Amino acid sequence: MRILGIETSCDETAVAVVEDRLKVLSNIVSSQVEVHERFGGVVPELASRQHVVALTPLLDRALDESGTRFSELDGVAVTVGPGLVGALLVGLAAAKAVSLAAGVPLIGVNHLEGHVYANFLEHGEPDPPYVVLLVSGGHTLLAHMPEQHRYELLGQTVDDAAGEAFDKVARFLGLGYPGGPLLDELAGKGDPEAIGFPRAMLESGDHDFSLSGLKTAVIRHVRGERAAGREVVPEDVAASFQEAVVDVQVAKTIRAARENGVERVLLGGGVVANSRLRERMSRAAEEAGLELRYPSPALCTDNGAMIACAGSFRLARGETTSLDVGVDPGLPL
Ligand code: KG4
Ligand code: ZN
Repeated sequence: MRILGIETSCDETAVAVVEDRLKVLSNIVSSQVEVHERFGGVVPELASRQHVVALTPLLDRALDESGTRFSELDGVAVTVGPGLVGALLVGLAAAKAVSLAAGVPLIGVNHLEGHVYANFLEHGEPDPPYVVLLVSGGHTLLAHMPEQHRYELLGQTVDDAAGEAFDKVARFLGLGYPGGPLLDELAGKGDPEAIGFPRAMLESGDHDFSLSGLKTAVIRHVRGERAAGREVVPEDVAASFQEAVVDVQVAKTIRAARENGVERVLLGGGVVANSRLRERMSRAAEEAGLELRYPSPALCTDNGAMIACAGSFRLARGETTSLDVGVDPGLPL
């Protein structure tokens, strides 16, 4: 069974071919970083236009690289939300065209479920129950996954998403765009204990997060130090900020697993590419006797293989999506 996966929810145009639910035959991501760089963030209209330009050649390449002819496809999976409405529409229109032309079923996929299923591409068959931490540019949430395709939201951010906080702090520090990976790199050269930034909602007793206060604390600290004529070490600011984010995410994830009596933890989303989060979560999970899985960095950030994988599992259960489906920019997990 060969499934084409199309992902255009934000600023990456991505197409993949996945065989038998778990085997990646091709997985190509065309980044729009150069288009959005000078604006310091994603410009939705430019993202849609860039998807239009990039998608058709990318479809050809993904099929070519996987050695798959159009007639050999068994289905096409596509992100239908959450994401930018115009960007999502470009991918969905292409997927519908492929579905019609090849005479294969369309499978609409939730982008967030794609991030969860990215894990199985490298770690094998799903084995729920899991507690899932999803941290990306648009989302920060903890969920209980009692069985495949079922999610019970445990908590989420009450303001900014984790990736958004990384990107905003990176921009404030003048690191460029996209900020998350650059901040991660800079933080590796700094002292995570140099500055005691707040750990928001660490002791709140629930599974929610808050990140906007931390971002403000970083800005206030840097401005205060400069105003007082003291030297600011960007490496230390980055490392201390990152440590505050990671501390809360690690503590809350471990607690969520314990409270739900779950022994397996999955991580997903672009922020899971963060080296400190991977390192600290691994240590904490081992100490707590939990089984932890997270994708390799390239499968943490947006890609088509995760969408093809989630779609394949749904198709295997007989789930398909009608061709008159629309996109849902605010689709919940
Ligand atoms: O999942 P993703 O590719 O797109 C969304 O669904 O949002 O996540 C992108 C986010 C961006 O905010 C980016 O800065 C962040 O993930 N990110 C990182 C790292 N790599 C990507 N944040 C921290 N450390 C990283 N190494
Ligand atoms: Zn994503």
